[in-house]
Amino acid sequence: MGKITFLPSGKSIKARPGQTLVSAAAAARVVIPQRCGGHASCLMCRVVLEKGELSAPSALERRKMPENDLLEGIRLGCQAKATDKDCTVRIPESRWKSVVQAALERQRNGED
Ligand code: FES
Repeated sequence: MGKITFLPSGKSIKARPGQTLVSAAAAARVVIPQRCGGHASCLMCRVVLEKGELSAPSALERRKMPENDLLEGIRLGCQAKATDKDCTVRIPESRWKSVVQAALERQRNGED
């Protein structure tokens, strides 16, 4: 069993080899956004492999994800699976959340 650490929360969990990141995240009480129920169609579950190892991309994942994204370690959480090695994955912040945070920051600084 490899340990998966989810950033930015830092929560981690031991995952079975073959367990998807979405499933491991749910067990660790970490939310990976998704809308298609793990059918590799919404692409909302993208995560970034920062360290360690995940399963090789499946044919479906290769079909859905641009080659460059895969080379940069961007994976679909519903398709990428744990191995027996540890890994660290980052769940990107939602764009909307960053926009709201930037607006609040400007307001705090008296710019608005
Ligand atoms: S959950 Fe929709 S693509 Fe992964």
